[in-house]
Amino acid sequence: MIADVDTTWSGIGSALWRLATHPEDRQHLVAQPELLPSAIEELLRAYAPVTMARIATEDIEVAGCSMSAGDRVLLSFSAANRDPSVFPDADKVVIDREVNRHVAFGAGIHRCAGSNLARMELLIALEEWLARIPDFRLDDSAQVTWAGGQVRGPALGPGPLSVIASRSTASRRPIRVEPAVEVVVVRTEIQ
Ligand code: HEM
Repeated sequence: MIADVDTTWSGIGSALWRLATHPEDRQHLVAQPELLPSAIEELLRAYAPVTMARIATEDIEVAGCSMSAGDRVLLSFSAANRDPSVFPDADKVVIDREVNRHVAFGAGIHRCAGSNLARMELLIALEEWLARIPDFRLDDSAQVTWAGGQVRGPALGPGPLSVIASRSTASRRPIRVEPAVEVVVVRTEIQ
Protein backbone atom coordinates (compact mmCIF):
# COMPACT_ATOMS: atom_id res chain seq x y z
CA MET A 1 0.00 0.00 0.00
CA ILE A 2 1.28 3.44 -0.91
CA ALA A 3 0.20 6.38 1.22
CA ASP A 4 1.31 9.89 2.13
CA VAL A 5 2.44 11.04 -1.29
CA ASP A 6 -0.13 12.89 -3.37
CA THR A 7 -2.52 13.24 -0.40
CA THR A 8 -0.14 15.21 1.77
CA TRP A 9 1.41 17.25 -1.01
CA SER A 10 -2.10 18.14 -2.22
CA GLY A 11 -3.04 19.21 1.30
CA ILE A 12 0.09 21.33 1.66
CA GLY A 13 -0.34 22.69 -1.87
CA SER A 14 -3.96 23.70 -1.25
CA ALA A 15 -3.00 25.39 2.01
CA LEU A 16 -0.19 27.38 0.39
CA TRP A 17 -2.43 28.27 -2.56
CA ARG A 18 -5.07 29.56 -0.14
CA LEU A 19 -2.56 31.62 1.83
CA ALA A 20 -0.95 32.98 -1.35
CA THR A 21 -4.32 34.13 -2.66
CA HIS A 22 -5.96 35.29 0.59
CA PRO A 23 -3.64 37.75 2.37
CA GLU A 24 -6.11 38.25 5.23
CA ASP A 25 -5.81 34.57 6.20
CA ARG A 26 -2.04 34.62 5.78
CA GLN A 27 -1.63 37.71 7.95
CA HIS A 28 -3.96 36.25 10.57
CA LEU A 29 -1.81 33.11 10.83
CA VAL A 30 1.47 35.01 10.83
CA ALA A 31 0.16 37.15 13.70
CA GLN A 32 -1.35 34.19 15.55
CA PRO A 33 0.54 31.00 14.66
CA GLU A 34 -1.24 29.25 17.53
CA LEU A 35 -4.24 29.13 15.18
CA LEU A 36 -2.40 26.84 12.76
CA PRO A 37 -3.91 23.59 14.07
CA SER A 38 -7.48 24.87 13.61
CA ALA A 39 -6.55 26.47 10.28
CA ILE A 40 -5.19 23.14 9.06
CA GLU A 41 -8.45 21.38 9.95
CA GLU A 42 -10.38 24.09 8.14
CA LEU A 43 -8.19 23.90 5.05
CA LEU A 44 -8.56 20.11 5.02
CA ARG A 45 -12.32 20.56 5.31
CA ALA A 46 -12.60 23.16 2.57
CA TYR A 47 -10.12 21.59 0.14
CA ALA A 48 -10.44 17.90 1.07
CA PRO A 49 -7.83 16.23 -1.09
CA VAL A 50 -9.24 12.70 -1.27
CA THR A 51 -12.33 11.08 -2.77
CA MET A 52 -12.62 7.35 -2.14
CA ALA A 53 -14.56 4.74 -4.06
CA ARG A 54 -16.57 1.73 -2.96
CA ILE A 55 -18.48 -1.07 -4.67
CA ALA A 56 -22.06 -1.53 -3.50
CA THR A 57 -22.51 -5.03 -2.09
CA GLU A 58 -26.31 -5.02 -2.29
CA ASP A 59 -29.12 -3.12 -3.93
CA ILE A 60 -29.75 -0.07 -1.78
CA GLU A 61 -31.25 3.41 -1.82
CA VAL A 62 -29.49 6.23 0.01
CA ALA A 63 -31.15 9.66 0.23
CA GLY A 64 -33.26 8.93 -2.82
CA CYS A 65 -30.37 7.57 -4.89
CA SER A 66 -30.73 3.94 -5.99
CA MET A 67 -27.66 1.76 -6.28
CA SER A 68 -27.40 -1.83 -7.40
CA ALA A 69 -25.04 -4.50 -6.12
CA GLY A 70 -21.78 -4.16 -8.03
CA ASP A 71 -22.18 -0.44 -8.75
CA ARG A 72 -19.08 1.66 -8.26
CA VAL A 73 -19.70 4.60 -5.96
CA LEU A 74 -17.59 7.68 -5.29
CA LEU A 75 -17.70 9.04 -1.73
CA SER A 76 -17.37 12.78 -2.13
CA PHE A 77 -15.82 13.76 1.19
CA SER A 78 -15.31 17.25 -0.18
CA ALA A 79 -19.08 17.66 -0.72
CA ALA A 80 -19.84 16.25 2.73
CA ASN A 81 -17.40 18.77 4.18
CA ARG A 82 -19.50 21.59 2.75
CA ASP A 83 -22.82 20.29 4.00
CA PRO A 84 -24.64 23.40 5.24
CA SER A 85 -26.66 21.33 7.71
CA VAL A 86 -23.41 20.43 9.51
CA PHE A 87 -21.15 23.45 8.95
CA PRO A 88 -22.36 27.03 9.37
CA ASP A 89 -21.07 29.13 6.45
CA ALA A 90 -19.99 25.88 4.84
CA ASP A 91 -18.54 27.53 1.75
CA LYS A 92 -16.49 30.02 3.74
CA VAL A 93 -12.99 29.28 4.95
CA VAL A 94 -12.98 30.25 8.62
CA ILE A 95 -9.45 29.55 9.81
CA ASP A 96 -10.39 29.69 13.49
CA ARG A 97 -13.51 27.52 13.10
CA GLU A 98 -14.04 25.94 16.50
CA VAL A 99 -16.30 22.96 15.75
CA ASN A 100 -15.06 21.14 12.69
CA ARG A 101 -15.99 17.46 12.38
CA HIS A 102 -14.93 17.16 8.75
CA VAL A 103 -14.43 13.88 6.90
CA ALA A 104 -11.33 14.74 4.88
CA PHE A 105 -9.76 11.60 6.34
CA GLY A 106 -12.85 9.49 5.69
CA ALA A 107 -15.00 7.83 8.31
CA GLY A 108 -15.60 4.34 9.62
CA ILE A 109 -13.28 1.35 9.68
CA HIS A 110 -11.20 2.51 6.72
CA ARG A 111 -10.65 6.01 8.04
CA CYS A 112 -7.15 7.25 7.20
CA ALA A 113 -4.54 5.42 9.24
CA GLY A 114 -2.06 8.26 8.83
CA SER A 115 -4.23 11.25 9.75
CA ASN A 116 -2.11 12.32 12.70
CA LEU A 117 1.09 12.02 10.72
CA ALA A 118 -0.55 14.03 7.92
CA ARG A 119 -1.59 16.73 10.39
CA MET A 120 1.94 16.90 11.77
CA GLU A 121 3.42 17.20 8.27
CA LEU A 122 1.01 20.00 7.42
CA LEU A 123 1.76 21.79 10.68
CA ILE A 124 5.53 21.62 10.26
CA ALA A 125 5.34 22.64 6.59
CA LEU A 126 3.14 25.68 7.26
CA GLU A 127 4.94 26.69 10.46
CA GLU A 128 8.32 26.63 8.74
CA TRP A 129 7.06 28.34 5.58
CA LEU A 130 5.29 31.18 7.41
CA ALA A 131 8.20 31.73 9.79
CA ARG A 132 10.60 32.18 6.87
CA ILE A 133 8.29 33.55 4.17
CA PRO A 134 5.39 35.32 5.87
CA ASP A 135 4.65 37.56 2.90
CA PHE A 136 4.02 35.89 -0.42
CA ARG A 137 1.54 35.81 -3.25
CA LEU A 138 1.11 34.00 -6.50
CA ASP A 139 2.91 35.42 -9.48
CA ASP A 140 0.21 36.96 -11.70
CA SER A 141 1.39 34.80 -14.55
CA ALA A 142 1.08 31.57 -12.59
CA GLN A 143 -1.37 29.21 -14.17
CA VAL A 144 -2.87 27.10 -11.43
CA THR A 145 -5.27 24.38 -12.36
CA TRP A 146 -6.71 21.79 -10.00
CA ALA A 147 -5.91 18.14 -10.39
CA GLY A 148 -9.09 16.14 -10.66
CA GLY A 149 -9.61 12.48 -9.95
CA GLN A 150 -9.43 10.84 -6.57
CA VAL A 151 -6.72 13.09 -5.18
CA ARG A 152 -7.34 16.78 -5.71
CA GLY A 153 -4.98 19.69 -5.34
CA PRO A 154 -3.43 22.61 -7.14
CA ALA A 155 -1.56 21.53 -10.24
CA LEU A 156 0.29 23.49 -12.82
CA GLY A 157 0.22 24.44 -16.41
CA PRO A 158 3.31 23.68 -18.47
CA GLY A 159 5.57 26.07 -16.54
CA PRO A 160 6.66 26.26 -12.91
CA LEU A 161 4.43 27.86 -10.30
CA SER A 162 5.95 31.14 -9.13
CA VAL A 163 5.40 32.67 -5.75
CA ILE A 164 6.55 36.22 -5.05
CA ALA A 165 7.94 36.40 -1.55
CA SER A 166 9.21 39.17 0.68
CA ARG A 167 11.93 38.85 3.27
CA SER A 168 10.78 37.39 6.54
CA THR A 169 11.13 39.61 9.55
CA ALA A 170 10.49 36.60 11.77
CA SER A 171 13.01 34.40 10.00
CA ARG A 172 15.11 32.29 12.33
CA ARG A 173 17.65 31.39 9.66
CA PRO A 174 18.92 33.47 6.77
CA ILE A 175 16.89 32.93 3.64
CA ARG A 176 17.81 33.72 0.10
CA VAL A 177 14.87 35.93 -0.83
CA GLU A 178 15.31 39.67 -1.35
CA PRO A 179 12.59 42.14 -0.31
CA ALA A 180 9.59 41.61 -2.57
CA VAL A 181 11.61 40.77 -5.65
CA GLU A 182 12.88 37.23 -5.45
CA VAL A 183 10.85 34.51 -7.03
CA VAL A 184 10.62 31.22 -5.20
CA VAL A 185 9.81 28.50 -7.64
CA VAL A 186 7.78 25.59 -6.42
CA ARG A 187 7.46 22.86 -8.99
CA THR A 188 4.81 20.22 -8.65
CA GLU A 189 4.30 17.43 -11.08
CA ILE A 190 1.16 15.42 -10.78
CA GLN A 191 1.10 12.29 -12.90
C1 HEM B 1 -3.65 15.22 4.03
C2 HEM B 1 -3.24 13.96 3.95
C3 HEM B 1 -4.15 12.78 3.88
C4 HEM B 1 -5.48 12.70 3.57
C5 HEM B 1 -6.43 13.83 3.20
C6 HEM B 1 -5.85 11.30 3.64
C7 HEM B 1 -7.12 10.83 3.40
C8 HEM B 1 -7.47 9.50 3.42
C9 HEM B 1 -8.77 8.98 3.12
C10 HEM B 1 -9.98 9.83 2.75
C11 HEM B 1 -8.71 7.65 3.26
C12 HEM B 1 -9.84 6.65 2.96
C13 HEM B 1 -10.83 6.51 4.06
C14 HEM B 1 -11.92 5.55 3.63
O1 HEM B 1 -11.74 4.73 2.72
O2 HEM B 1 -13.00 5.63 4.24
C15 HEM B 1 -7.38 7.29 3.64
C16 HEM B 1 -6.94 6.02 3.88
C17 HEM B 1 -5.68 5.69 4.29
N1 HEM B 1 -4.64 6.57 4.55
FE1 HEM B 1 -4.72 8.56 4.35
N2 HEM B 1 -4.75 10.57 4.01
C18 HEM B 1 -3.70 11.42 4.16
C19 HEM B 1 -2.41 11.10 4.57
C20 HEM B 1 -2.01 9.84 4.94
C21 HEM B 1 -0.72 9.52 5.52
C22 HEM B 1 0.33 10.54 5.90
C23 HEM B 1 -0.70 8.17 5.70
C24 HEM B 1 0.40 7.29 6.25
C25 HEM B 1 1.70 7.52 6.08
C26 HEM B 1 -1.97 7.65 5.26
C27 HEM B 1 -2.33 6.34 5.30
C28 HEM B 1 -3.57 5.84 4.95
C29 HEM B 1 -3.91 4.43 4.98
C30 HEM B 1 -2.98 3.28 5.39
C31 HEM B 1 -5.25 4.32 4.56
C32 HEM B 1 -6.09 3.09 4.40
C33 HEM B 1 -6.86 2.80 5.67
C34 HEM B 1 -7.77 1.57 5.50
O3 HEM B 1 -8.16 1.23 4.38
O4 HEM B 1 -8.11 0.94 6.53
N3 HEM B 1 -2.74 8.69 4.81
N4 HEM B 1 -6.63 8.45 3.74
